[in-house]
Amino acid sequence: MPRKPPSKSPETSLQILFCTTESAPFSKVGGLADVSQALPAALTGLGAEVTVITPLYGSINRRDLPDSLKIIAQGTVSLGEYRERSFKILSAAVGSVTIWFVESAEYFARSGIYEDEHGFPFWDNGERYIFFQKVILAMVRRTHFHILHVNDHHTALLPVYLKTEAVKNPPKTVLTIHNIGYQGRYSPDILNLTGLGWAAFYPGGPLEFHGQTNFLKGGIIHADRVTTVSPSYASELLASPEISFGLDGVLRSLKMPLQGILNGVDYQVWSPEQDPLIPAHFSAENTAGKQTNRAALLARSGLPDLPGHALVGIISRLVDSKGFELLIPLEEELMTMPLQWTILGSGETRFEDLFRQWAERYPEKVAYHQGYDAALSHLIEAGADMFLMPSKYEACGLNQIYSLRYGTIPIVRQTGGLADTVQAWNGACGTGFNFQFYSPFALLQAINQALQVFRDKPAWHTLMHNAMSQDFSWERSARAYMEIYQELMK
Ligand code: ADP
Ligand code: GLC
Repeated sequence: MPRKPPSKSPETSLQILFCTTESAPFSKVGGLADVSQALPAALTGLGAEVTVITPLYGSINRRDLPDSLKIIAQGTVSLGEYRERSFKILSAAVGSVTIWFVESAEYFARSGIYEDEHGFPFWDNGERYIFFQKVILAMVRRTHFHILHVNDHHTALLPVYLKTEAVKNPPKTVLTIHNIGYQGRYSPDILNLTGLGWAAFYPGGPLEFHGQTNFLKGGIIHADRVTTVSPSYASELLASPEISFGLDGVLRSLKMPLQGILNGVDYQVWSPEQDPLIPAHFSAENTAGKQTNRAALLARSGLPDLPGHALVGIISRLVDSKGFELLIPLEEELMTMPLQWTILGSGETRFEDLFRQWAERYPEKVAYHQGYDAALSHLIEAGADMFLMPSKYEACGLNQIYSLRYGTIPIVRQTGGLADTVQAWNGACGTGFNFQFYSPFALLQAINQALQVFRDKPAWHTLMHNAMSQDFSWERSARAYMEIYQELMK
């Protein structure tokens, strides 16, 4: 476990600690998990040594953990004056990456990641993340990393700790914003648990935001570099108080500008040529297998094969930002169109109810699969004709990129990473359909346009071929991160 101290010599490979609250295939709520699985592996492909540190949740099936898992450290951290909490670090190699799981009976041995079984955030989430970060800090003190790469508000206090507490040879910090809609805003007393004191909490101070704490703000101000997951989202964050949820001014004040690095796709996991979770394999050159997957998806969804209909897939967390409210006024119109829908997701009750009602009212047209189902998500990507993501904002978005590879044509709102990954079809070039204004009418127009092209089989074939030929592999993005790390080491 002891690592070499950081050195500026080019012969020593960069040692990176990647801090995340989700890491596929062990724990996943959304795209952060996919990124935390694929980016570290891509970085090792470029010569870095990467350790991922993540909680060992109660929901992780112990049988899915690597056999080589062993305890490499244990200790306690204090949360405020009276709470001393113990932790264990269990380590294993997963491919080229080392994973450190943080075990804690108090904070992580629960079936949910962020929420309980009723969909309510755990009451002590702030405390859980402070604990996680204190454990990371304890490990940083015991070992030597060149770079601490933190993600979202759950680990955004680490740059604050490293800039304000005495740590020998502190690593440089990179903070990646995956979703600024969540910022770690809590009542100020939570600061008592951090041990950071109150010096940074005053109106307009680094940890203060409208009378509450804001851990992401602290991270943005103290990190050595701040990135986000697409160039367009970076521009939108800097320009718009709505999209940045009020942090645009803080982002604009950075010495090193916010950089948008587009997420990639792990084509080991998401390729129709080799996906073990779909009944028939296919490729851009031979798409025949897609029809078999389509038939399997219809059967799995209990939908009949209605002639001339396009099958639209949705896989999503059902939250406000994903834009599904735009569908509400379109119900009657959409249900008269030659469309069928297979929808997978869970989240806010209003959206779950909406899709459940659609499925009840139009059983031949709509299937709603409530919940989280990785295998079904692959079948939807492989079997649907179109994929809908009408997001209000989207930092990057991964499903539209997976859809491209499976020839499942994305219909997206032109925002953030959706704008950076889907090019509008113009009759010869392009990979999907998009709309700009956040309005039901604009969405309907895009769906109509998609249907029109769907009826023109040669055009649809070209469109599928264009989509499937896109390459969003991780290597280019991993190189961009490597450049940042290397600049920080100069
Ligand atoms: P976000 O991170 O905002 O949820 P992304 O598009 O980046 O959005 O990533 C979502 C990831 O979560 C994708 O890998 C998607 O397939 C997966 N996902 C979302 N909801 C479900 C679900 N109900 N079942 C299976 N996978 C899901
Ligand atoms: C967030 C964003 C999503 C992005 C993912 C991975 O959850 O909502 O757009 O793709 O993180 O970076």
